[in-house]
Amino acid sequence: MKYYENFYKNGFELFDFNSYGVDQILRDISTGIIKDGFFLQQKYSSTVDLRPNVLDYSEKFLEVLRVNRIKSFIRSRTLKDPTLHHIQVRVTDSTTSYMDWHRDSYYDNGKSVGMIPPGYKIIYYPKFKEKHEPRLHVAAGSHRIMIDQQSEDLKLASRLPKVLIETSNDQALFFDTSLLHAVIPDEPNVPSIRLIYSFISKEQLLDYSAEELHLRTSKAYEDIQ
Ligand SMILES: [Fe+2]
Repeated sequence: MKYYENFYKNGFELFDFNSYGVDQILRDISTGIIKDGFFLQQKYSSTVDLRPNVLDYSEKFLEVLRVNRIKSFIRSRTLKDPTLHHIQVRVTDSTTSYMDWHRDSYYDNGKSVGMIPPGYKIIYYPKFKEKHEPRLHVAAGSHRIMIDQQSEDLKLASRLPKVLIETSNDQALFFDTSLLHAVIPDEPNVPSIRLIYSFISKEQLLDYSAEELHLRTSKAYEDIQ
């Protein structure tokens, strides 16, 4: 099966990822060692994001995409050439899921929610402990099946094969943002950290994402050789 056939079938792929020192940066941030001028700010209850942005925190957050040849990786899986518009570093400390089963992009009672057509995300969950820790469930193939009423749609998760995504220093997750996925709660008093890259088409970026930071993020990504 070709890479793009496999990716279309499942809607996600775990792929080999050279963490290129980004794991160490994330370890520092998760233990509260944060560069001057940056800070963690609450986003949802029990989650904080690195602010004012990730792009300026370290060149490694972009370099790691070059090192892993992410542009050609994405092209080979999607047959598209999306651009990067957002990088997030998020720490959670919640014994209940802050994001149970959901799609980032979907329809509900005739209205669209999230970016349409859906984009793509790469999420890297660094492994700091000896054992792998569970972070996310994904419902394989769910991006190909959608009921345009969310209350019915979310019931699909129980009928589809679920795959567990765990912490890893040499793998990352790539997925279509219309895939059903669910964040796994944290152990009590054991926060978890993830690095998230969001990709959308260049047209969508210009139409919907006029923020200076998003344009600058996209430009920096496009400049990667
Ligand atoms: Fe999500």
